[in-house]
Amino acid sequence: MASSGAGFASHDAYLHGFFSASIKLPADYAAGVVVAFYMSNGDVYEKTHDELDFEFLGNIKGKEWRVQTNVYGNGSTSVGREERYGLWFDPTEDFHRYVILWSHDRIVFYIDETPIREVVRTKSMGVEFPSKPMSLYATIWDGSSWATSGGRYKVNYKYAPFVAEFSELMLHGCAMATSSSAPSCTPDNASIHNAVVMSGRQRSAMERFRTKYMTYGYCYDRLRYPTPPPECNAGAEAELFLPTGATRSMDRHGRSRRHRRNPANSAY
Ligand SMILES: *[C@@H]1O[C@H](CO)[C@@H](O)[C@H](O)[C@H]1NC(C)=O
Ligand SMILES: *[C@@H]1O[C@H](CO)[C@@H](O)[C@H](O)[C@H]1NC(C)=O
Repeated sequence: MASSGAGFASHDAYLHGFFSASIKLPADYAAGVVVAFYMSNGDVYEKTHDELDFEFLGNIKGKEWRVQTNVYGNGSTSVGREERYGLWFDPTEDFHRYVILWSHDRIVFYIDETPIREVVRTKSMGVEFPSKPMSLYATIWDGSSWATSGGRYKVNYKYAPFVAEFSELMLHGCAMATSSSAPSCTPDNASIHNAVVMSGRQRSAMERFRTKYMTYGYCYDRLRYPTPPPECNAGAEAELFLPTGATRSMDRHGRSRRHRRNPANSAY
């Protein structure tokens, strides 16, 4: 299988903070091409790594890109906490800002000004909530085997090169000491460690986004998780964000029944 990739990483590792990039995705046919903007400490903690992901899962010409977010903590790779969404714009046409806000007790993913996912640190989630310093990465690679429609559409190198553009990188966090530098902040830097407060307006925007654009959520995947991971039942919040049509069940590819019936979405 042909495969290739490229990427860059931050010099420092950070404990909590605000991390964002403006990203423009490859246009035209980019099936199988994965563009990722994520935080990880997999290089340091092989078996107990933490990770926070934005992943763009390729597109088929004329169809929209899908975006996925995911969370791993302390090597919890056996529990996928994926969510997937459509977008309200064409991400190949312009730069849009993708943000990971990570604090001690919650994580918020944003696209432009809109919060799209909030992960609250619950007791039951325990160490599966990322808690060790992570570096920031941006990559583009060949995800033919799984990315687009679960691998049905592969990378076609006839359309290469695939170019993802990144700009306005912002890393505002607690950089931990590297060999050459002292930590930029301590446990006392409360504004970073406890950074997230969402306004009521933002919360409504998030609910609207999730109702309209979320196509898969692990909390609602009863085939994969007959008993959902414990944080899924963490009170009314889960109910609040239930995406339309995803109430009953989703098939093994994570498509809700509602979307399977809709030909416009069936390729995903
Ligand atoms: C993380 O996982 C490892 C290996 O499973 C375990 O030994 C360790 O106690 C866990 N860390 C915490 C903070 O619980
Ligand atoms: C952490 O707090 C110290 C002392 O107030 C300050 O000088 C430093 O800039 C802060 N670090 C960050 C990353 O905000």
